[in-house]
Amino acid sequence: MKNIKGTTRVCGLIGNPVKHSMSPLIHNALAEYENIDMAYVTFKVEEQDIEKALAGAYALNILGMNVTVPHKQNVISGLIDIDELAQNIGAVNTLVRAEGGYKGYNTDILGLQRELIDAGISLENSDIIIIGAGGAARAISFLCAKEKANSITIINRTRQKAILLANEVNNKLGVNIVKGIGLQEYSRLSGKKYIVLQTTSVGLHPDIDTALIEDDEFYDLVEVGVDIIYNPAKTKFMKLVEAKGKKAYNGLKMLLYQGVSAFELWNNIQVDEHNVQKVYELMKKELEIVE
Ligand code: ATR
Repeated sequence: MKNIKGTTRVCGLIGNPVKHSMSPLIHNALAEYENIDMAYVTFKVEEQDIEKALAGAYALNILGMNVTVPHKQNVISGLIDIDELAQNIGAVNTLVRAEGGYKGYNTDILGLQRELIDAGISLENSDIIIIGAGGAARAISFLCAKEKANSITIINRTRQKAILLANEVNNKLGVNIVKGIGLQEYSRLSGKKYIVLQTTSVGLHPDIDTALIEDDEFYDLVEVGVDIIYNPAKTKFMKLVEAKGKKAYNGLKMLLYQGVSAFELWNNIQVDEHNVQKVYELMKKELEIVE
């Protein structure tokens, strides 16, 4: 049990459900390793209670919060300020205490950004394929456009959703680099190598033997693949990328770094790289991942 004292600041996760979250493990370990007097707990909050929860958290002097499903969008109206990228994405997963309320950030996307930096993948001037057009794809599209990608192609089962998302990113950021296509249309893309970001739930445990695109030809387009799934640690998509001799990464570092970035924002520090690695090892142990 932690040494909880009168000075201990509280942070927590609001969502529903919250029982299986990895965040308490991440943040309580970071607090211990970084010697920060902070404890992290979960708060199950019903959809209609989000405003009351924010007001209550502020009144209780809670330092910061993570926000998960189903509140990532509807929490925004209760904030006093919002980071520009989070605003564009339209989803927030981290609240930082400020004068009079909380400021919202999207550290999910900051987490992916740090994972890509770790892997030596630069989005700038790159040609990018995003598989999927849901919430995660939306955040990733904005990140890639903000990082000045050369081109972004969103491939989705429902073609119209890909087109709508592409238009929205182009319009909001005043660019014309994002395009949406259907699943069968990737043959138009030949001739280049792409950074491919897999954002759908296809391949997630227990359906581990599936990938949204399984055609061998598609994988000739891939320079490097990143799946946001981390369970299983090696998805079918990653295996298909690796079969072409290319590198593939899962989403575990994204999860790690979304936590680290939130912890840094709350405590106004930069976490030591050695401690980041220690938390990563803990997460792998928790998920029984053997590399
Ligand atoms: P998230 O917020 O995690 O991104 P989401 O918003 O529900 O989740 O989006 C899920 C994405 O995965 C969508 O792009 C969805 O495709 P559709 O827009 O055609 O629904 C895609 N997806 C999920 N399950 C799929 C499946 N079995 N086959 C094809 N695409 C799937």
